[in-house]
Amino acid sequence: MTTDTASAPAPAPLPLLVLGQGTDLHTERGVECPGDLPAASDPDLVERARAAKAALGDRVFVLGHHYQRDEVIEFADVTGDSFKLAREAAARPDAPYIVFCGVHFMAESADILTSDEQTVILPDLAAGCSMADMAAIAQVEDCWEQLTAAGVAEQTIPVTYMNSAAAIKAFTGRHGGTICTSSNARTALDWAFEQVGGVGLDGTGTGKVLFLPDQHLGRNTAVRELGLSLDDCVVWDPHRPNGGLTREQLENARMILWRGHCSVHGRFSVDAVEAARREIPGVKVIVHPECQYEVVERADEVGSTEKIIQTIAAAPAGTSWVVGTELNLVRRLAQQFPEQRIAFLEKNVCYCSTMNRIDLPHLVWALESLVEGRVVNPIRVDPTVAAEARAALDRMLALPGTTHKD
Ligand code: 13P
Ligand code: SF4
Repeated sequence: MTTDTASAPAPAPLPLLVLGQGTDLHTERGVECPGDLPAASDPDLVERARAAKAALGDRVFVLGHHYQRDEVIEFADVTGDSFKLAREAAARPDAPYIVFCGVHFMAESADILTSDEQTVILPDLAAGCSMADMAAIAQVEDCWEQLTAAGVAEQTIPVTYMNSAAAIKAFTGRHGGTICTSSNARTALDWAFEQVGGVGLDGTGTGKVLFLPDQHLGRNTAVRELGLSLDDCVVWDPHRPNGGLTREQLENARMILWRGHCSVHGRFSVDAVEAARREIPGVKVIVHPECQYEVVERADEVGSTEKIIQTIAAAPAGTSWVVGTELNLVRRLAQQFPEQRIAFLEKNVCYCSTMNRIDLPHLVWALESLVEGRVVNPIRVDPTVAAEARAALDRMLALPGTTHKD
């Protein structure tokens, strides 16, 4: 297709919205906050948050992901990684309101795992996830059709990372698969391969996993933890016909990895690891498994946010670390463990912009609205989608040994 720029109409001006005001019609979730969003400069915000939480008492339970800002974490009843927070949400049947300080897919999962009488609230609806947005349900359905046409769908089971929309989780449930998080991906893959005849490292295995949507977590887990080879992995590109793969490639693959990644973790580089090793004698490198394979291979430790915290907490004083995960968490670790030397892995990586959308003004707004009897930003997953997604989430929660040592 060619574009005649000379006769094309002038582009409409981009609507630059003040945070919390107006609606961006070009995004799914918008940024509108009906009512008054407190100003970030309001010196009373901390006191207002405390007062609203006290007024709500047991009626509200606040969950905070480790990537949240300090000002928000201060008001979390529980902090955790994606797996721990999903379990915590499911374990609070008496709280009518769950305020989820995290991102959209986490709040959706909490809604699916809680009862119809409970309401999950996301303080800013624009807190999405670029990785989750890399797999749209129409693309995933199309991929499955292609796998069916190639004759490999019958031997394939989907395993979907928590960082995905509810519709993708529902697809996974419909096709007998499971959800996983970064703390149980190995167990989930072990379980999945058992459903399709075993991993069969001696060349006897033919079953496949369709891993959505983070290619890095899928590859890192399959190769480093299950013993599959890089050649066993192929990448399905939803923007190319047939995923950019031949029938033969699909037949020979054991891991069909969706072409998705985290825009934060994808930027940690091998160069940064090597520079850290040169500059800090004896340094230990610890990274999240959403990082690229080459980076993870050069690290000393790899794990979910919860595991990163536990590993650093258990290390002797005087240990030097460079940490490859989101900056809010790394900064907090450096403050919490001053007896250790903790640095951020990569100077070119910054905060997760969507996690950072949840700030104190939005939290205060959500809590004060509840005090006034108004529910703002409820996350409600369609009941049919929720039922199918729940099947996949329940499979994850039932995986052997998926408990936290906390
Ligand atoms: P975990 O906290 O489960 O390790 O997840 C990391 C992440 O990227 C969440 O968006
Ligand atoms: Fe998504 Fe990455 Fe941000 Fe997590 S850190 S919410 S995976 S963009």
